[in-house]
Amino acid sequence: MTGTILLYGATGYTGRLIAEKAARRGIDLVCAGRDAQGVAAVAQPLGLKHLAVSLGDPAGLDRALQGKAVVLHVAGPFSATSAPMVEACLRNGVHYLDITGEIEIFERCAALGEKARAAGVMLMPGVGFDVVPSDCLALHVKRRLPDATSLTLAMAGLTNMSRGTAKTSIEAVARGTAVRRGGRIMEIDGVPRRQIDFGKGPVAAIGVSWGDVATAFHSTGIPDIEVFFESSGPLERALGLPRAVRKFMGTGPMQAILKQLVTWTMPPGPDARVRQTARATLLGEARNAAGRVVRSRLEVIEPYALTAETALLIAGKAAHGGALPGYQTPAGAYGPDLILEIEGCRREDLNA
Ligand SMILES: NC(=O)c1ccc[n+]([C@@H]2O[C@H](COP(=O)([O-])OP(=O)(O)OC[C@H]3O[C@@H](n4cnc5c(N)ncnc54)[C@H](OP(=O)(O)O)[C@@H]3O)[C@@H](O)[C@H]2O)c1
Repeated sequence: MTGTILLYGATGYTGRLIAEKAARRGIDLVCAGRDAQGVAAVAQPLGLKHLAVSLGDPAGLDRALQGKAVVLHVAGPFSATSAPMVEACLRNGVHYLDITGEIEIFERCAALGEKARAAGVMLMPGVGFDVVPSDCLALHVKRRLPDATSLTLAMAGLTNMSRGTAKTSIEAVARGTAVRRGGRIMEIDGVPRRQIDFGKGPVAAIGVSWGDVATAFHSTGIPDIEVFFESSGPLERALGLPRAVRKFMGTGPMQAILKQLVTWTMPPGPDARVRQTARATLLGEARNAAGRVVRSRLEVIEPYALTAETALLIAGKAAHGGALPGYQTPAGAYGPDLILEIEGCRREDLNA
């Protein structure tokens, strides 16, 4: 079975990267978005088909999904865009993929798992850098230590954000750090801190509300999960703001101002040189009740370049009969070695 991929959000930084790669590889993909002129400006030079539809138009979405096998949804923040597209996919029997990292979106899709299974639809949010490599690493260390009870995932090398990622991150500014304890997601006061060795000696790392707090539980069943980023100046400054200031920044008017500032002051995303040369490192650590620990490390290509690759890899599998109905995580559906299918990614067991 083969089918067409609908790329919704083709006018964004990440959408363009995906459209360009798809065109170069001759992938059957239609560019879509809310702005007809913008979508045409991306698709026409690449020789791709295109259409425009608003997420607020259910009948239009139903028409757009006719004859499509998979939606690759890359229009974010997904808090504002995911629900209508998921509903349209369920109505029309089309598989849904997105590149969210937002914990609420993962959990909402997970809650729709039975409905999706009944409709023969795969719901797989998180087919980008967040969470494909970390999800694969989580399942890998779980297989090395099957009775693991806690999982720590950590990442280094995430220096350049796109505007879309910055706007999405701003939405979480007022919240505490999300962790999973005893299988439940909770927000904790204060910022967890650890020293983590990514390969060049221990460095400071800070706890973050990353998508794996949701997904790694679905992939591995490990009940306690935390995610850390290598510490950086901007991250320290954002997390160091007093709680009251962060709460104020979370109000509607302040969110609108902060997002506008992002549009005015930030470049769309990392430039081609950074995408070709930068790399990121992920560390996975699983621990069991007896205190036994296993650690594995994953080296991957630059996060936005990786997002375009993993999103197209998974969309291709889903479009060619490789979709599993219901809510799925990347590693849960395709195994921990999925990430090794991407050129330039390699994994190492540190205490084999
Ligand atoms: N998982 C990952 O690792 C990963 C990697 C990259 C990006 N992301 C996420 O993906 C999202 C997009 O990132 P980006 O860098 O491509 O952002 P961007 O350059 O700001 O592009 C945003 C895209 O979303 C569209 N959009 C926004 N709100 C919309 C709405 N209400 N209805 C329809 N379309 C809407 C925009 O359409 P217009 O052009 O019409 O405004 C544009 O196509 C962000 O949430 C980001 O956090 C995740």
